[in-house]
Amino acid sequence: MEMSRFTNLIDLNDMSEEWWLGVVKKAAAICDDPAAYAKACEGKIMATLFYEPSTRTQMSFQTAMLRLGGTIIGFDNPATSSVAKGENLKDTTKIVSSYADIMVMRHPSEGAAKAAALTADCPIINAGDGSHLHPTQTLTDMLTLYKEKGRLEDLTIGLCGDLKNGRTVHSMCKALSSFKGIKFVFISTRELGMPAYIKDILTAKNCEFTENSSLEDAIGGLDMLYMTRVQKERFSSEEEYNALKDVYRLDRRKLSKGKSDLIVLHPLPRVDEIAMEVDEDPRAMYFKQAKYGMYVRMALIMTILEAPRIPAPLLKGELYPSVCCANPNCITHKEYYLPKSFRGVGDMLECEYCDERRLGN
Ligand code: NCD
Repeated sequence: MEMSRFTNLIDLNDMSEEWWLGVVKKAAAICDDPAAYAKACEGKIMATLFYEPSTRTQMSFQTAMLRLGGTIIGFDNPATSSVAKGENLKDTTKIVSSYADIMVMRHPSEGAAKAAALTADCPIINAGDGSHLHPTQTLTDMLTLYKEKGRLEDLTIGLCGDLKNGRTVHSMCKALSSFKGIKFVFISTRELGMPAYIKDILTAKNCEFTENSSLEDAIGGLDMLYMTRVQKERFSSEEEYNALKDVYRLDRRKLSKGKSDLIVLHPLPRVDEIAMEVDEDPRAMYFKQAKYGMYVRMALIMTILEAPRIPAPLLKGELYPSVCCANPNCITHKEYYLPKSFRGVGDMLECEYCDERRLGN
């Protein structure tokens, strides 16, 4: 069985709700007195391996470690590392994880963070794996709700835009559905709709969700509106992207139909889905949200580095060496040495790296 000696953050649902709240509350305490934590990670090194572009996630992680008194190494362009010479994911991450105390990784393939954790010599944090998950963005969003709404329960949350390819909304649904009284409204076109596996998770947890193709119709009932970018890099053709990229745009007129205590979040970067005029509205929370991301990552780095080293299995399903994952963008299609591990769900097999389901044999 594949074990890890470390507390990794691959998927928030690997951790308990108490653990998430612990990180959020620690982050809130750091917001109040950041200077008190200036030496919390003195002598520690964090590696950031970004195989995909990033501004906020990478820089907020780096700033977080620097503000905790630690130091940083890493790359933000695999073309300038040995990846360009054809080095596989296992070798790169194994080596870098032996240099660092904690490693943060973003990768375009679903399941890449879990794949790296199988052989890494330090804890791994998933900073986004393809269109799969983005747990540290969800911690950021939780801190924003905690600070700006004062609660993580009894909220009607609208998610608007590319719900199919956006990893931020997948992570958010999986986590926030654990709290009491959360209702989701999915605002998207049919082509950009929420994947079936996320809806199945919500149904299994008795979390209410509705679907609505009109932002204008839905906005009045929301406590939080989460706008997202249409994920150009996940489309197979430019035409397909162009046909969908401008469907949703929040402007002052549409926002006027929102409640006075609505908050508008966006993981950023925005393209055209929020008009700049909205920035002046007190309900626009996305710049503050990005700053909360730094505090939450400070709390997360401290939590992970302080966690006891108890070996835990990373792959819990069964190995099917001759079965291929149905998702062509799954890391198992690029890194052939990975053990092909699936969980049985009824007559389906669910890939343990990317959660994609296929009919069992
Ligand atoms: C998001 C991401 O990378 O998934 N950005 C971020 O981390 N703040 C959202 C996006 O790229 O659209």
